[in-house]
Amino acid sequence: MKRIGVLTSGGDAPGMNAAVRAVVRKGIYHDLEVYGIYQGYHGLITGQIEKMEVGSVGDIIHRGGTILRSARCKEFKTKEGRQKGVEQLRKRGIEGLVVIGGDGSYRGAQALTELGFPCVGVPGTIDNDIPGTEFTIGFDTALNTVIDAVDKIRDTASSHERTFVVEVMGRNAGDLALWAGLSAGAETIVIPEDPVDMESIKSRLIKGHERGKKHSIIIVAEGVMGGNEFAQKLEEATNFDTRVSVLGHMQRGGSPTAVDRMLASRLGARAVELLIAGKGGRAVGIKRNQLVDYDLAEALALPHQLDLDIYRLSKELSI
Ligand code: F6P
Repeated sequence: MKRIGVLTSGGDAPGMNAAVRAVVRKGIYHDLEVYGIYQGYHGLITGQIEKMEVGSVGDIIHRGGTILRSARCKEFKTKEGRQKGVEQLRKRGIEGLVVIGGDGSYRGAQALTELGFPCVGVPGTIDNDIPGTEFTIGFDTALNTVIDAVDKIRDTASSHERTFVVEVMGRNAGDLALWAGLSAGAETIVIPEDPVDMESIKSRLIKGHERGKKHSIIIVAEGVMGGNEFAQKLEEATNFDTRVSVLGHMQRGGSPTAVDRMLASRLGARAVELLIAGKGGRAVGIKRNQLVDYDLAEALALPHQLDLDIYRLSKELSI
């Protein structure tokens, strides 16, 4: 293999830049030419492809977002769209592709691999919802962003003796809500993996008030319902003075934490090693701090598993 490409796709995540840097520099280190594809699969179809040099990825390891930019591309879901993408790569002599993104991006990578073009997936999403890896790039940074916000909300919640509902991202997964809720000491964490039980949430709040608690923080994963909808149901059930904070896209921004920079650097470099070894159709991940790689198609067929031990612990510690 002499030429490889790299793109970022789907929702951006802090640490994607560190992953792009790792792919480019690891490739150049092994005498490959590395091409950056801008705007994800959209840029692949339209040929927004440029050769990257060592300096192209200088001064980005600490930046959020992605210098390659990202997009959600409907055309790439069609066979014709994917065919156009492969043609763009082949006419430049590019022989392998690293795709940094979430499960939608992985589906694209798998489809390209099935067309005979070897791809390796690198998990980049704040949702932490990719099967086959314990952590995705961006999750740790988003988690810290949420914790910082909840700590601040706690100050005002306690001054005014209010109940706060904080809606966090995560798509259909509860990881971000769960980890943030446990780390920020939320009273209740509502996640899609466990059906909402308003009666138990209500009795927990009342119990807290009875023992003198002046405020409550409830983290609601967006995959359950919107924070405003949840707060309305809660107010109807309890009459507590409730406020809502929807954290939104701020969760996707910011300088990546050391954990995300390390993860991105290690996973990006491993993806290049796999392409050099002729192993397409793989995805890289981390398990017990060891790098792993696995079949893309198999991973896509698996459901994402939330860590139920952590969920149980969150309930035990928020009595
Ligand atoms: O997948 C990342 C994510 O931020 C999800 O948490 C969220 O549901 C979605 O993307 C939002 O997508 P968009 O930026 O297209 O509104």
